[in-house]
Amino acid sequence: MRRRNSQERLVFNDIAIIDIAEEGKGVGKTDDLVLFVEKAIPGDVVDVELMRKKKSFGEGRIQTLKKASEYRVEPFCEHFGVCGGCKWQHMTYDAQLLFKQQSVENALTRIGKVDTSSMEPILASGQTEYYRNKLEYTFSNKKWLTTLDDNVEDMNMDALGFHVPGRFDKILNVSHCYLQEDPSNVLRNSVREFAVANALSFYDLRDHSGVLRNLIIRISSTGELMVIVVFAYPEEGQVELLMSFIKDKFPSITSLLYIINQKKNDTIFDQEIEIYNGRDFIYEEMEGLKFKVGPKSFYQTNSAQAYELYKITRDFAGLSGDELVYDLYTGAGTIANFVAKYAKEVIGVEYVPSAIEDAKINSEINGVKNTKFYAGDMKDVLTASFIAKHGKPDVVITDPPRAGMHTDVVARLLEMESPKIVYVSCNAATQARDLTLLAEKYDVVRIKPVDMFPHTQHVENVVLLKLKG
Ligand SMILES: C[S@@+](CC[C@H](N)C(=O)[O-])C[C@H]1O[C@@H](n2cnc3c(N)ncnc32)[C@H](O)[C@@H]1O
Repeated sequence: MRRRNSQERLVFNDIAIIDIAEEGKGVGKTDDLVLFVEKAIPGDVVDVELMRKKKSFGEGRIQTLKKASEYRVEPFCEHFGVCGGCKWQHMTYDAQLLFKQQSVENALTRIGKVDTSSMEPILASGQTEYYRNKLEYTFSNKKWLTTLDDNVEDMNMDALGFHVPGRFDKILNVSHCYLQEDPSNVLRNSVREFAVANALSFYDLRDHSGVLRNLIIRISSTGELMVIVVFAYPEEGQVELLMSFIKDKFPSITSLLYIINQKKNDTIFDQEIEIYNGRDFIYEEMEGLKFKVGPKSFYQTNSAQAYELYKITRDFAGLSGDELVYDLYTGAGTIANFVAKYAKEVIGVEYVPSAIEDAKINSEINGVKNTKFYAGDMKDVLTASFIAKHGKPDVVITDPPRAGMHTDVVARLLEMESPKIVYVSCNAATQARDLTLLAEKYDVVRIKPVDMFPHTQHVENVVLLKLKG
């Protein structure tokens, strides 16, 4: 049944939610439409308010929850529903794992035409709260008002927190976040309180005025702490006041840094890093290996689960010590260094030059002598002459970004005919697309999803491919 509500939006009644879509929304059906419904869970029966309509599908939100799915639980975070961070907190962790497993399976069968009968069960994350080693907060003078803000009259509108989904200019003022362990929460709240009490100016994301812009907190598995404050302008007074406050109040910070970013966008990759106190890096540790992590370095954000992911990758690679391994999209060379002891030589390739510098340092500080690293776009670096120079790999490990591999890179892999490929992916849909191309010469022999990000729809997936006999 359908009707219109007071805003003249179409409402569909009694829609049974039967599946969960790629981006984590519940899926229901009317006679002529597939509905993607925010915060709906398989097993729910809901009245859906239609927010957007395309030819064959619609996007909507729950107007009334008629029957609650057995997978529903009360979200534990006060910011759930407004914050874009942990969209799946309203379902049990077991249900999250089930849906992640299903989403990988669906992508591989529907897009990749892969036989998933031997797919292994998803590896759950040991920690489901406080599992991130890095968080990035944004300052704004335009706080997003929520029902928690009952005292709207003469309220201070300065906020420090996360972007509200779909609103580039509105920031949710976060009072407690379950993603990163303390001192993350204490630090963020103290910084905001101090800045408000001292009338420091919060950034305006529309007209680019205001000084305080971002706060990045990294806590490593070794207990080291990096804090980066991003200011929009070199306002001596404000910079010094805030930095000296943080230094005095949080002596455990091993790396206290700041950046003056006068560009319109927030990325810090092209920015000068200023050291206020301590050194400009922290160490991560994994299986006795140390990894130097600078302010611009990529490091997997769930450190404990990254270790599990890398062990699965190494296990799939099945190394005996004699192999030449290519680690494509190597980042700071973490996987390359992690498997080096079990291989004859590892060649890492990565786009970002500073990450390649980190990768070399990471080999050096760990006494790893059998790695080589090269910077550049994969499709330009991985050429026939590169392979002729370094040798045909016995194993390729590939861990591309969400977009998957460029078709030229897939073509090169097909030409190279390495006996084994271990494909690590954070996007099963693009992985499945690449697997269809690789199917010309490769069989999928093992599949193992890994949950790196509890309470989100994101899932990592590791696939082992073997060259057809
Ligand atoms: C998912 S991360 C993997 C990082 C690394 N394997 C790890 O576990 O830490 C993907 C990496 O691919 C790199 N990258 C993205 N596009 C690339 C391209 N066209 N050529 C080479 N590397 C690229 C990114 O800079 C990033 O470091």
